[in-house]
Amino acid sequence: MKIIAVVNQKGGCGKTITAVNLSAALSKNYRVLLIDLDPQGHATFSLKANTNFTITDIFEKISQEQPLPQESLFTSLSESFSIVSSSIGLASLEHKLTSHSSKLRLLSSFLKIITGFDYVILDCPPNLGVLTLNALFASDYCLIPLMACDFSLRGVEILKNILIMVKESSDKTPTPFFLLTQVDNRSRFSREFLDKTRQQFGNLLLKTNIRTNVCLKEAVSRGEHIFNYKPYSRGAQDFTELAKEIDRITTKTAWAALFLKGKDLTDVYVVGDFNNWKKQETYKMSKIGDDIWSVNISLEKGKYRYKFIAEGKWFADPHNKLTENDNFGGKNSLIIAE
Ligand SMILES: Nc1ncnc2c1ncn2[C@@H]1O[C@H](COP(=O)(O)OP(=O)(O)OP(=O)(O)O)[C@@H](O)[C@H]1O
Ligand SMILES: [Mg+2]
Repeated sequence: MKIIAVVNQKGGCGKTITAVNLSAALSKNYRVLLIDLDPQGHATFSLKANTNFTITDIFEKISQEQPLPQESLFTSLSESFSIVSSSIGLASLEHKLTSHSSKLRLLSSFLKIITGFDYVILDCPPNLGVLTLNALFASDYCLIPLMACDFSLRGVEILKNILIMVKESSDKTPTPFFLLTQVDNRSRFSREFLDKTRQQFGNLLLKTNIRTNVCLKEAVSRGEHIFNYKPYSRGAQDFTELAKEIDRITTKTAWAALFLKGKDLTDVYVVGDFNNWKKQETYKMSKIGDDIWSVNISLEKGKYRYKFIAEGKWFADPHNKLTENDNFGGKNSLIIAE
């Protein structure tokens, strides 16, 4: 079961549209559960999916160590697409949980006990509070929608810092991928923006773009996903492509999400067993914030040693506790890809 959080603290960047329509697209070939983690309940409304048992009830039961009902935990939207809806009570629950000792792991605990799904998609609220952190601690991947032509990369930097915190306090970090949404290919300005973003983000950015399409908006107001409302629209095409790309990314390989914090660096590379310790463009890290460098490496299962190279110096990953002595009196960092 692969768990994907759709996350960005910025409001209105396309999280819910992505969570709903990616879930629907994946459900053509896989069993998918969509969980609405936003007290605003937009995913719930946009699929007309109000249910008696909500994510609020699930959090309450798990936090009080009470059993969950055997039936009607999920609501079926089709044979292979189910949802756990949200409720406004989720907002106050967030406050109640503040003093709970494992408040950030409640969703992980829940997801460990459920079966019968290939993908779980989490639609997060527009903040980095307890609910979003629960999603990040529980997920294998996070998908970060960025509105095309939005230059405020500061938001990305804050989110990356949160991911670093998750990595440092957990044995599992979600591998982040960025997705451009509300793309308009017709304007030159927009195309230039896409080229620049692609250069800057390297392989952290998905190849699929979600173009602006009024049908996507109309589908929301009708309470349907795009494949029910307008299956031949551009929106439906884009989400089909996105599902294929997500399928490739999540089923074929293991991923290591590496990052380095450092100011005044010009180029940073990762070298290791996986590239014969040679500097290669695929393993060049992307600068995604003022002082944050990041790269995702796809690997076959196994154990790998690596180092970073910056400003001509070779050094172990300062954010990875797993190390091994090298033959030169220093340390190599280790990745165990599972
Ligand atoms: N590709 C698109 N084409 C047309 N409209 C879009 C597209 N993506 C998003 N929108 C519209 O932009 C608005 C914001 O989208 P959405 O609700 O998915 O963002 P969000 O990040 O979930 O917002 P919030 O942070 O409030 O939860 C909605 O009105 C949606 O219909
Ligand atoms: Mg939303």
